[in-house]
Amino acid sequence: MALKAYTFIFALTLYLSLIFSCAKDKVTVITPLNCPDTISFTTQVLPLIQSNCTGCHNVGNGTGYILTNHSNISASANAILGSMHANGYQLMPQGGPALPDSLIQKVACWLDQGKKNN
Ligand code: HEC
Repeated sequence: MALKAYTFIFALTLYLSLIFSCAKDKVTVITPLNCPDTISFTTQVLPLIQSNCTGCHNVGNGTGYILTNHSNISASANAILGSMHANGYQLMPQGGPALPDSLIQKVACWLDQGKKNN
């Protein structure tokens, strides 16, 4: 009896970890939006784009996206969020790994709150 229970728990653990590891690999899993606070473009979104994206996405490097200020970042906001999740776009930062979900959530909330220049 005890052996059966152990086998069952082992199989269940294996099954769940497989599901979760696959979900993680795909990156497209989007956790429900949870935006308790108003996101600031200047103090939250811009610094995270500058430190993770602008190094490659600046003037004249031919990636097709210049991500340096509120006007060009908000114009590309859907592509930016999509690329962070590899959802309809290549995963960015290029070559991965994906940014932590807490940072992606900030961009998602900022977009959801109307891409404020605040
Ligand atoms: C190491 C350099 C590098 C970094 C860092 C980087 N990118 Fe990119 N990105 C590129 C290049 C190069 C391309 C063009 C790739 C191509 O056309 O095949 C690209 C393409 C894109 C695209 C278009 C993708 C598509 O499928 O059409 C988006 C959107 C994008 N980047 C957003 C971002 C965001 C947002 C970040 C920060 C989280 C970021 N990138 C970080 C180099 C980079």
